[in-house]
Amino acid sequence: MSDALNYLLKARPEAMGAYFKFLKESGKSLDPKTRMLITVITKVATQTEKGLRQYLPRALDAGATPGEILDAILHAFPALGLARIFWAIDILIDMDIPEFRAENLGAGLRWHDLAAVDAIADGKVTYCDSDGRSLFVYRSGDSFDVYDSRCPHQVTNIPHLALEGFRLTCPKHHWEFDVRTGACTGKGDRPMKRFESKIENGQLRARW
Ligand code: FES
Repeated sequence: MSDALNYLLKARPEAMGAYFKFLKESGKSLDPKTRMLITVITKVATQTEKGLRQYLPRALDAGATPGEILDAILHAFPALGLARIFWAIDILIDMDIPEFRAENLGAGLRWHDLAAVDAIADGKVTYCDSDGRSLFVYRSGDSFDVYDSRCPHQVTNIPHLALEGFRLTCPKHHWEFDVRTGACTGKGDRPMKRFESKIENGQLRARW
């Protein structure tokens, strides 16, 4: 949430409570994906950079494909105009979200090799790279949990050095996560993104 909203929530709680109730009520007939697509468009229309960085990944989490998000922005051209659309695309390029890279657009979900199972230490967190994405893997016996290194807040690529024991702290706004469960344990309110995984021919594979 922005500093301005935080301030208004404290200074005018009743008015802001009514505002949030209005937002909730006005979108209640919409499915989560549609709500997120509309929210992305409003962030572009008002040129709210923080909000756009925050809601692009939320739209993906809500099930929108990168193609649908791009089409939604382009389809709002009469309201947004070319300058705002370019503004949004510049931010999108700067964020370097793997799903939006040209080579991944329209590729759909695929399985990717991460590492040989024997090379992943039990009871520890292993950091690895695969097909242009970085991941944190927590192994507990025969169970493997694979998490995106991209922060669920604004998609910052959290580096390996940000890991202390099992606590991972995003360098941008200091959200904290427990890499054993992916839960957000400090400051923020969203868990790490977990990918489906499987073992095949001695290799740990994950799907995104
Ligand atoms: S991008 Fe804001 S805490 Fe990670």
